[in-house]
Amino acid sequence: MGHLVIAVDGPAGAGKSTVAKRLAKRLGLGFMDTGAMYRALTLKALRRGTKLEDAEALVALAHETAIDLVDEAGRPLKVLLDGEDVSDAIRTPEVTNNTFYIARTPGVRAVMVEWQRRMGEKQSLVGDGRDLGTVVFPNAAFKFYLDADFDVRCQRRIDELRAKGVAVDEAALKRDLAERDHADFTRKVGPLKKAEDAIIIDSTNMTIDEVVEALVQHIHKQK
Ligand code: C5P
Repeated sequence: MGHLVIAVDGPAGAGKSTVAKRLAKRLGLGFMDTGAMYRALTLKALRRGTKLEDAEALVALAHETAIDLVDEAGRPLKVLLDGEDVSDAIRTPEVTNNTFYIARTPGVRAVMVEWQRRMGEKQSLVGDGRDLGTVVFPNAAFKFYLDADFDVRCQRRIDELRAKGVAVDEAALKRDLAERDHADFTRKVGPLKKAEDAIIIDSTNMTIDEVVEALVQHIHKQK
């Protein structure tokens, strides 16, 4: 198919990462979880005690950070922060609830977008995030916007955490997800937005396999 970039955007809990990873495997492409990159930088800022309100400090931190995504067949994506495997450490509620500061800072987003574009130039890939179809890869061959009802997205997150043996405070999780939605939709730079040419998939009543299949069908139809 030649060099190919496929963008999968949508709100938290819509199933983007799982779908994008499976789609990448199916098509033999790389996989880029951009949320993991925002999370990794958040983790570094929290560990360092960097003031999260200090945009300049966050941008400086981004410039002195190396984030690598290692996508090995049959394994969960490995996220390396300055060489350290932080794949699990970036999934804690503390990190999740503080990504907002990193994500709203234009200078940090500029650095992230640059990294992501470089990865997209090096290899064909499926990327998932919030702004891939609108900002990072406006010329992506395929743009999908994966949505699902709020309650279903909450339930998926709850199930995901429980499956990992994590105790879940459901009310708090719902509140956090609503806050994250609000922050994602309203930030000035790189907000969550449907690209005009995105194919919208509502996964509320679909399984992961069905969503992957729907994406594959769209891709084959247009190729
Ligand atoms: O997708 P995930 O939930 O792992 O993303 C973590 C956070 O990173 C999100 O809350 C979102 O605000 C931010 N993010 C972003 N732009 C992206 C991907 C994620 O702002 N492209």
